[in-house]
Amino acid sequence: MDRWCGRVALVTGASSGIGAGIASSLVKNGMIVLGVARDVERIKKLSDSLGTTASGCKLVGMKCDVTNEDDIKSVFSYAKDQFGGIDVCVNNAGLAHNGPLLTGDTKNWRNMLDVNVLGPCIITREFMNQVKERGVDDAHIIFINSINGHSVLPSSPYHFYSATKHAITAIAEGVRQELREMKSNCRCTSISPGVVKTEVFGRAFKAEDMQKAVDDVDKLISNGMPLLPDDIGNTVLFVLSAPPRMEVNEIIVTTTGKLLL
Ligand SMILES: NC(=O)c1ccc[n+]([C@@H]2O[C@H](COP(=O)([O-])OP(=O)(O)OC[C@H]3O[C@@H](n4cnc5c(N)ncnc54)[C@H](OP(=O)(O)O)[C@@H]3O)[C@@H](O)[C@H]2O)c1
Repeated sequence: MDRWCGRVALVTGASSGIGAGIASSLVKNGMIVLGVARDVERIKKLSDSLGTTASGCKLVGMKCDVTNEDDIKSVFSYAKDQFGGIDVCVNNAGLAHNGPLLTGDTKNWRNMLDVNVLGPCIITREFMNQVKERGVDDAHIIFINSINGHSVLPSSPYHFYSATKHAITAIAEGVRQELREMKSNCRCTSISPGVVKTEVFGRAFKAEDMQKAVDDVDKLISNGMPLLPDDIGNTVLFVLSAPPRMEVNEIIVTTTGKLLL
């Protein structure tokens, strides 16, 4: 991680779960992190618990709804003013609604498209505009995709979600091709986790007791061991630590136990 020390990463959806895990891993390994989400108070609490490292690395929270293009543009102008710019962009914010294809609600489908697909596209475009403007040639774009972005699991609540994650598989490859066309050395990686112990399932089913919903994620895996947000944080560290000649295109990280559907 040496060459990233003191440089700046944007992590979307840093208020919870995987995004909080990635933000923590990056701060502990020498990066300044701008963490964004709607619930900025949660990011601030995480930031307080992480503190500032000896080399001055910390998590800075900012409110941003990724369905709002003006919010996104404000993040990039804030980053330019405060830090000069962003070097690593982690598109993590995402959500599932319980939305089967034959009975789902249009509003929920549209929200999944906005958060899971359009948000990351707008953020990636704005990020690369700033990267080009600054003449940076080793920036890294990371998409938090899903195993649902590679196959359609027989679980109707997640079929539309799966379509949004398949879009991310195509978008990550498209971005990689456009970077090559530009003769850029910037890299693009899609990380596709299996089941991670977070609030995503509780949110999808509007759980009244969120802690119970998070605890119940254990029951989705045959050996009771879902992945933890830190596992994905460590995956991001691995991807970033690869030597400049090496671009990790796609990493699929599943649980060792079987997913019980
Ligand atoms: N958990 C899993 O098993 C799993 C597996 C594969 C992939 N993933 C993917 O991992 C990513 C993170 O999910 P998670 O499991 O960590 O879920 P989570 O704990 O529910 O976190 C979701 C994050 O996304 C943010 N978010 C949602 N809507 C947003 C919006 N409109 N604007 C800005 N931020 C928004 C949330 O922040 P606010 O609510 O504060 O805005 C929160 O920080 C998602 O892309 C998800 O699809 C999860």
